[in-house]
Amino acid sequence: MSASNTPVSAAARKIPAARVQFLAEDRAWIVEKIDEVLASGMLTLGRYGKEFERRFAALCGTKHAVSVGSGTAALEIALRAIGVEGKEVVVPTNTFFATAAAVVHAGARPVFIDMDPASFAIRPEDVERALTARTAAVVVVHIGGVVSERLPELVELCRRKGIPLVEDAAHAHGSSYQGTMAGAFGLAAAFSFYPTKVMTSAEGGMLVTNDDRIAEEAVIYRDQGKASFLVNAHTRMGHNWRMSEPHAIIGLRHLERLPEMIADRQRIAALYDDALAGFRGLQPLRVPEGGVSNYYKYIAVMRERRDRQELKRRLREGFGVSLSGEVYEEPLHKQPVFASYAGGPLPVAEDLCARHICLPVYSGMEDDEARQVIEALAAFFG
Ligand SMILES: Cc1ncc(COP(=O)(O)O)c(C=O)c1O
Repeated sequence: MSASNTPVSAAARKIPAARVQFLAEDRAWIVEKIDEVLASGMLTLGRYGKEFERRFAALCGTKHAVSVGSGTAALEIALRAIGVEGKEVVVPTNTFFATAAAVVHAGARPVFIDMDPASFAIRPEDVERALTARTAAVVVVHIGGVVSERLPELVELCRRKGIPLVEDAAHAHGSSYQGTMAGAFGLAAAFSFYPTKVMTSAEGGMLVTNDDRIAEEAVIYRDQGKASFLVNAHTRMGHNWRMSEPHAIIGLRHLERLPEMIADRQRIAALYDDALAGFRGLQPLRVPEGGVSNYYKYIAVMRERRDRQELKRRLREGFGVSLSGEVYEEPLHKQPVFASYAGGPLPVAEDLCARHICLPVYSGMEDDEARQVIEALAAFFG
C-alpha cells in the first residue's frame, strides 16, 4: 500500500522478517465495531462471524465457509468430518507441524511423502505410491501461496481413487490456478489467520467447502460437538473451536484489504524476480503460468547448500536485512515428535528444506526496502 523510488543507501534501515499492517482508518473501524459488540454482549458466533464467513466463501468461490479458532482447528475438523480415525492420511513432509498434528489429533496416522522441487507441493505419483487400503484422505499444502500446476492431476487422482482431498490453504488466501481459487479444489480446505499470514484475524481459521454435509459437521464440531446451538445434545467429539466476534471483526477488515495487500506483495516479488534473474547462486520458486500467488513467502533456492544460520546472521548484522522464516527448515519426518511415523528417506525435501531461503515480503513494504534486500543478497549470490 505504499511505494517510493528514492535511492538505496547501504543498510539504511532494518528490514524485518515480517510486518503486520493495520492502517489507522482500519484500526479505528475495528475499535468501533468491537465497542459495538462489547456493548451488545454478542461476543461469539454472532453477525460479524457470519459476515466474515459469507465474504470469505465469496473470495474462495465455495458454497460454505465456517469460521473457527485457528487453522489447525479447521484442518482437524475437516479430517474428523471425513472420518479418518484409525486410518492413514497422506501428508507432505515439508509442511508446518500443524498439518500432521491435526491428522494425529483426529486419530489417524500421518504418512509422509516427498515434495515436488518445481512447486514445493506434493506430486500425484508420490501420492499414488503412498495410497493403501487404509488411506482415508490426502492433504495438499500450497506452500508459500503457490498453487501447483499439478494440482488438477492430484484432484483427478483422488477423484478416481475415491479419496477425499483436503487443502491446507493456510498460506494461500487469494491465490489461484487457472481461475480456481485455493480452497475450491478439494473436498474441504483450511485457512489460517495467524498474524504472520497474508491476512489475519489475530488468531483464527476458516474451513471452506462446497459439500453441505462437511459444512454441517463443521458447525457441530466447532461448538463442542453440539447438535445445534440451542440444544445441549452432544453428538460429536467436538471442542471449543469457535471464533469470537472481535476476531471476526479484525478478519473482516483485513479481508477487505486483501487485494491491496496481495498487490503490495506482488509488486515486491516482481522486483525480486527481476533482480534474481541476474543472480547465479539463487533461483526463485516459479509461479506457474495461469497461477496467481499471494506471495505469502518469496521462496528462493540456493544453488549450493550453505550454513543458513550464518548467512542470516551476516545479512542481519552487515545489511540490516532479516530473512523470513523458511517453509520449512526441517521436514516433519525428521521431527522428534513424529519419529514413530517417520518412514523416509525423503531426499528431495531433505535437500530443499536445507537449501532454500525466504526473502522478506509484506504489505506496506517499500521498493527501497526490496532494493536493500537485493543489494544484500547480491553480496552472497550475485
Ligand atoms: C501450513 C500450515 N498449516 C497449518 C497452520 C496452522 O494454522 P494456525 O496457526 O492458525 O493454527 C499453519 C500456520 O500457522 C501453516 O503454516
